[in-house]
Amino acid sequence: MKIGVLGFGSMGKTHTYAIKNIPFFFDGSYDVKIISVCTKNIENAKKASIKYDIPSYTDNEDDIIYNDEIDTIDICTPNICHYETAKKAILAGKNVYCEKPLAITYEQAKELADLAKEKNVKCSMVFNNRFLLPIMRAKELVCEGRLGKILSFNARYLHSSALDTVKRAGWKQDKDICGGGVLFDLGSHAVDLIYYLCGEFKSVIGKSQIAFPIRTGVNGEKWETNADEAFYMIATLKCGAYGTVEVSKITTGANDDLTLEIHGEKGSIRFNLMDPNFLEYYSIDDGSQRGYTKIECVNRYPYPSGVFPGVKAPVGWLRGHIGNYYNFVDCVINNKEIHPDLSDGAYVQLVLDSAYLSDKTGKEVEIC
Ligand SMILES: NC(=O)c1ccc[n+]([C@@H]2O[C@H](COP(=O)([O-])OP(=O)(O)OC[C@H]3O[C@@H](n4cnc5c(N)ncnc54)[C@H](O)[C@@H]3O)[C@@H](O)[C@H]2O)c1
Repeated sequence: MKIGVLGFGSMGKTHTYAIKNIPFFFDGSYDVKIISVCTKNIENAKKASIKYDIPSYTDNEDDIIYNDEIDTIDICTPNICHYETAKKAILAGKNVYCEKPLAITYEQAKELADLAKEKNVKCSMVFNNRFLLPIMRAKELVCEGRLGKILSFNARYLHSSALDTVKRAGWKQDKDICGGGVLFDLGSHAVDLIYYLCGEFKSVIGKSQIAFPIRTGVNGEKWETNADEAFYMIATLKCGAYGTVEVSKITTGANDDLTLEIHGEKGSIRFNLMDPNFLEYYSIDDGSQRGYTKIECVNRYPYPSGVFPGVKAPVGWLRGHIGNYYNFVDCVINNKEIHPDLSDGAYVQLVLDSAYLSDKTGKEVEIC
């Protein structure tokens, strides 16, 4: 697969990280490479190309879409761009990997979905939360009928980022570019999870909220947002379940708080993204033993979660290695004192040796 990445903000980077890490996580002989990167600002494209070892860069997406060497277009641009770009890419016969939301209206999205079928090209949405290990386990439990008929659900995705009105507004607060506010941004994830786990929606009641209409614009001026900062939804599903979806960027104290509960006749599940190694499961079959069981999910799914760095590794384990290495590189290059250094290693050795000594002698060992 030879990929061109369009847009290199937070998601362009995230996708690049994912692509470059695939060989570490998965066996197999896939040859996946990023050939080119495009951003609106050519200097940023150039920087990304140098920093992440991407052979070419451009500020014109057509250079990538119509490049014969590239077979896959990875769309990481603001929402308003997705439709035109995806359409061109599909018509050019390219595979497409597109960030959510697919487009800014259902008509556009349906057109793209139909076109992809008609042209027989391979396209994927980025609904990355489906690939979280507890969500994969949740899907298994639902499919195995362990919850029975689903009666109710709630999904909440809460951030606090829009509480700061002094911070300059970005495109996600400008409906002309994002097409929709937090409902598009976080709601797309929450709705997808309910759809994925419980099936199609039957009806929705929605209510949007803009609590801080006057913000700071891109040039520091007073500016009025038109994109929802919070959104509340009551929904019924075709399976008969009722539930709520609440998404917000004005929740004081929130971090990346995605929580999900699904309640069925025979069991329930609960998930919290801030505690991502676990899925909580309650079954009425447990008789007198009431209470949720915390199922460890960690890395115990070989496909498609991968077996690197090992089945027992919790989410985030690799992050510690990256931080440790970065600290080493930073300290060496900038001539800083390194911690943890070898004296830290020696101290740990002292404690270990003392413990062995205690084991051997059957006596308490004091460490000076
Ligand atoms: N799946 C997720 O977890 C997740 C998280 C955040 C954002 N997103 C989605 O990813 C997309 C990008 O969001 P982001 O947070 O990375 O945005 P961002 O603002 O960080 O980056 C946007 C990038 O697109 C570039 N760009 C803007 N207009 C362009 C154009 N016309 N042609 C080429 N490049 C252009 C910008 O230069 C920038 O590099 C959005 O659709 C967003 O909804 C998904």
